[in-house]
Amino acid sequence: MLENTSNKWGLPIRVMHGIGMVLVLILIIHGWWMTEFAPRESRFNQYAWHASFGYALLLLTALRITWRGLYKAPEPPADSLKWERNLAALGHIALYVFVLCCAILGWALAGTFSQPLDAKLLGFIPMPMIMSGNELHGLLEENHGLFAWVLAALVVFHLIATAYHQFYKKDKLLQRMF
Ligand code: HEM
Ligand code: HEM
Repeated sequence: MLENTSNKWGLPIRVMHGIGMVLVLILIIHGWWMTEFAPRESRFNQYAWHASFGYALLLLTALRITWRGLYKAPEPPADSLKWERNLAALGHIALYVFVLCCAILGWALAGTFSQPLDAKLLGFIPMPMIMSGNELHGLLEENHGLFAWVLAALVVFHLIATAYHQFYKKDKLLQRMF
């Protein structure tokens, strides 16, 4: 049940995929809302909430990649073509890379405010700041946003790929993960 089999992901990966999915969606939607629409006076408070969720996703993703390295993944569906396998592998690696980069850029950004963001991992573990001073604030802000929007595009692509498997190939790929 814990380990992956040749045609199903084990419980730890399924749980981490589910929680990761919710965190990514919250971070992108709430991140967009807080920078565009949140009332000015509550904005800094919203950033701190956002950062706590971001740290949780960073930890979860590190755990997930470690677990993924320890156990062999299920085989791709038997009838999948070479280009489909390559594109899937590339898409999955890109999702991991963009989640990690986006979260680390956010973490660096957190230290560059005149008053660094006071956000805790899982609500109680203080995080050290990996960047200070405000010289790079604008650049980090821009790139954090850019990476987040590319990540959002990758997630849309991932959803289209899931629908392709579910409705066109009908190969029950969804059941391997959910
Ligand atoms: C993968 C994880 C993360 C995602 C997907 C994400 C997503 C986003 C998005 C979509 C925005 C709005 C960007 C814009 O349109 O301007 C944003 C802004 C922001 N994020 Fe994140 N974020 C993540 C992690 C973090 C972390 C870990 C921190 C801090 C420790 C952080 C701090 C911030 C801050 C301070 C802003 C506001 C930037 C500004 O002033 O415009 N984020 N994030
Ligand atoms: C409703 C949303 C989502 C659905 C329906 C979904 C569906 C799936 C399915 C069916 C697989 C298994 C593919 C296989 O067995 O080969 C998978 C894998 C994966 N998903 Fe999602 N997913 C969703 C959201 C996300 C999000 C938001 C992320 C963002 C990080 C993500 C990242 C991944 C990764 C990295 C893998 C590959 C697992 C690995 O090889 O380690 N998924 N997804």
